[in-house]
Amino acid sequence: MTRTRIFGGVRPTEHLTLADYLGALRRWADEDQHRAEALFCVVDLHALTVDHDPARVRRLSRQAVTLLLAVGLDPRQCTVFVQSHVAEHTRLAYLMECTAGDDEMRRMVQYREKAERERARGGSVRLSLLTSPALMAADVLAYGTDEVAVGEGQAQHLELTRDLAVRFNQRYGQTFVVPRATCPAEVTRVMDLQDPASAMGTSPARRAGVVHLLDEAEAVREKVMGAVTDAGPDVVYDRAARPGVANLLDVLAACDGGDPEKLAAEYDSYGALKKDTAEAVVELLRPVRERHAELVADPGYVDSVLRDGAGRARGMARPRVDAAYRGVGLLPVG
Ligand code: TRP
Repeated sequence: MTRTRIFGGVRPTEHLTLADYLGALRRWADEDQHRAEALFCVVDLHALTVDHDPARVRRLSRQAVTLLLAVGLDPRQCTVFVQSHVAEHTRLAYLMECTAGDDEMRRMVQYREKAERERARGGSVRLSLLTSPALMAADVLAYGTDEVAVGEGQAQHLELTRDLAVRFNQRYGQTFVVPRATCPAEVTRVMDLQDPASAMGTSPARRAGVVHLLDEAEAVREKVMGAVTDAGPDVVYDRAARPGVANLLDVLAACDGGDPEKLAAEYDSYGALKKDTAEAVVELLRPVRERHAELVADPGYVDSVLRDGAGRARGMARPRVDAAYRGVGLLPVG
């Protein structure tokens, strides 16, 4: 029996956050890499779909890889690699562009909203932003992926990936596994500490509401202690009416494995809740930060992980992408 294949992608556009950790990375490290054949990829090509600073993308890519290892992904258990190191992604993305319709791409909400915003300012988005769902489909389909861990924001893109897989298989013969999205319900959705209506890390302007994985303890305390809470004196867990307090309770519960409603009963002031939450986050992130520092001091090790990861990923993707090339009618080398 072949093991379930999982693909997880992180974009090196921003620093990784507490929301990334509690929403995905922790589970990748604790569960997914052990139960499945898992690939975790820093999708650097996707970082070029928006205005970017080359030095920053380079820095954030390296940091993302190092953080994936620091949170506990073990290269003996899973494959950690950088997308641009494996040419199969772009090779297959072209075939995905030949499978998708332009209307289908233009319907993607993420593209429409961004394009709209840019147009309102008299600018435009990069063509690669429009076609990025084809690249994402290639990322996933190249590996015969069964499961993809995606946040709500990516659900539409994964639906498109599934459509493209089915269509390609119908047109050219069985080539791709049709992947399913896993949006684990029990995973904590961490909201911005300053704006608990938005997911943490989704509004770049709000630095004070975002805890980054590499934040110093003092910075974490400052951000958590400065979190907006709601009107009303008592601590109750009510996501709709008291989103600020509920977010703190969710974070505290996610750190310590507790239940947010039960935790609410233990507090009679926001101050005490914030203080405990801040300390819980500091302790949660401490080993990650320490491990990250060790890895930064050992660049040769990180390089070797990337080399091995790229080699393994290439080996997994190559046969399927070659088969897809033959399937659409391209002449084999011979
Ligand atoms: N497009 C995703 C994002 O914007 C990142 C991503 C790229 C991805 N390829 C992927 C996620 C493959 C899951 C699987 O966040």
